[in-house]
Amino acid sequence: MSSTDVLREVQHIPIEGRSPLRFYDYAPDTGSFAEDARAGLSAVPKTLPAKYFYDARGSALFDDICRVPAYYPTRTELEIMQVHAGDMALAVGAEVLVVEYGSGSSLKTTRLLDALANPAAYVPVDISREHLLNAARRLARAYPSLPVLPVCADYTAPFNVPEVPAKRCVAYYPGSTIGNFEPASAKAFLREMRAVVGQHGAALIGVDLQKDPAVLQAAYDDEAGVTAAFNKNILHRMARELGAAVNPEAFTHEARYNAEEGRMEMHLVSDEAQTIQIGEEAFALAAGESIHTENSYKYTLQGFAALAGEAGWTVADVWTDEQAYFSVQYLT
Ligand SMILES: C[S@@+](CC[C@H](N)C(=O)[O-])C[C@H]1O[C@@H](n2cnc3c(N)ncnc32)[C@H](O)[C@@H]1O
Repeated sequence: MSSTDVLREVQHIPIEGRSPLRFYDYAPDTGSFAEDARAGLSAVPKTLPAKYFYDARGSALFDDICRVPAYYPTRTELEIMQVHAGDMALAVGAEVLVVEYGSGSSLKTTRLLDALANPAAYVPVDISREHLLNAARRLARAYPSLPVLPVCADYTAPFNVPEVPAKRCVAYYPGSTIGNFEPASAKAFLREMRAVVGQHGAALIGVDLQKDPAVLQAAYDDEAGVTAAFNKNILHRMARELGAAVNPEAFTHEARYNAEEGRMEMHLVSDEAQTIQIGEEAFALAAGESIHTENSYKYTLQGFAALAGEAGWTVADVWTDEQAYFSVQYLT
């Protein structure tokens, strides 16, 4: 993540009662959705990258998921932040630059910011532009003296963190979004994160833990159908943005625990033989055929420590809830 050549625009967004937001836009949504959709629907088995869940509608649906009682990750991580943010702040030190990967609504961030001594700046990085900007505006109003520098980027592609004088750069990556990567890609991503924060940098990462599959199943297939709507949004988005001929209602959301891989999977299963048409190309699906849309790997503490170690990090501290459902890990 060293090149600046993909930065499309820097805007100054006025906020009443404080200095404007400086917004760095890498325009991650102008590129490859069509290409990735075509490649994924041509693959065997069919797949679509999870990052395309998140347009404004998808981000709002994710916020709805966070309010579903069975979706333990959000409330558990919030609890951990509530109890231990003070320890985290002591660990990372004063005047740090916080770079949040996949910041979404920055829900957990306020607990961290409230505990930090004189943070130098907050840089939320997210692919979902409108949602990112709304969250950044809210945060900027709540913390009038904190520089807030939103970056709209695909964090798996090159982007630069805005330069801010700080004692240290700390990557914050909550939500167990790290679990969406295959372990080999998670390792490469963590290695890249080390390069971003620099030699004296650190990271705080939310990591979901292995648990009873029944708890996982309930979390990823809620009765109200919120997760199903979130999953299908990727098909709605294809119709909206790519002009694809696709009927999302002819698919069923399925959450599966894959014990061998230690991961929850989300699938969209075709209810009938049908085609998805993107431009000139038609992609045929048999009845019962699935499009695999997301993996959420669940780690053991030892497993994650080994992975982080292979990426050059040391796990210096771990905070969990009483049931050990979830962890926030401090990497140096
Ligand atoms: C599971 S949600 C977590 C949101 C928030 N951090 C939380 O803990 O509630 C994942 C977030 O990462 C963002 N995201 C997913 N893939 C991304 C990518 N490749 N680049 C940048 N942001 C991404 C999504 O837009 C979304 O806001």
